[in-house]
Amino acid sequence: MSAPRPPSPPRRRVAPSILSADFTNLGAAVAGVTPGTDWLHIDVMDGHFVPNLTVGPPVVASLRAHSDLFFDTHLMITDPARYLGPFRDAGADGCTVHVEVGETDALLAQMRDLGLRSGLAANPDTPFEALEPFLDRVDLVLCMTVFPGFGGQSFIADVLPKIAQVRAAADAAGLALDIEVDGGIDERTVVEVVRAGANVFVAGSAVFDRDDPLAAVGGILAAAEGVRAGAST
Ligand code: DX5
Ligand code: ZN
Repeated sequence: MSAPRPPSPPRRRVAPSILSADFTNLGAAVAGVTPGTDWLHIDVMDGHFVPNLTVGPPVVASLRAHSDLFFDTHLMITDPARYLGPFRDAGADGCTVHVEVGETDALLAQMRDLGLRSGLAANPDTPFEALEPFLDRVDLVLCMTVFPGFGGQSFIADVLPKIAQVRAAADAAGLALDIEVDGGIDERTVVEVVRAGANVFVAGSAVFDRDDPLAAVGGILAAAEGVRAGAST
């Protein structure tokens, strides 16, 4: 029997991260970038898995009433099992849990049962081998390109080989996996991650710290779309 054909490359998209938006004016910030994308990245931090605190289900519910974007909810928390239901009920479309928190099999099953699109994240120093057993059970793999916790950090290029490993494994298995990157993504670094195989680009400061966030989303997407799929140079 021949090897499975690599699936069509999944669509490239920018997921603006509200972490860098003006929280006193969140609805307007989201509305401002909505013409440029169909995903919104929502960072949830518990002050335990990462040394920072952000938002919970009530903020997701408030945003849900004002937005039809896909809510890509990044759970940087040590006990996701307790909160997946509340985030789903608040309006999350997809949740991403970190492989470092453990109990991954159970968490992926719980997300499936809740009807959530499922994501699995890995910190920059977590190897491909930690993700590999789960690739056929997730919709999205998030390769962190900074250590999670804060916006505005510098892109860690050492993560690029892991992105390429995930894409190669997905292609070999015939999986149309979304590979998302998060941290230090802008018009320049997005080119490197596309070459490695990523197709969903989280961007916080490179969107919301700009004078024109909508134009910034367009600029990152245009830079990504200018790269030939799988090109290494
Ligand atoms: C960091 C968060 C990111 C953050 C990225 O832990 O997961 O989503 O918003 O911010 P930038 O794009 O500024 O690196
Ligand atoms: Zn994030």
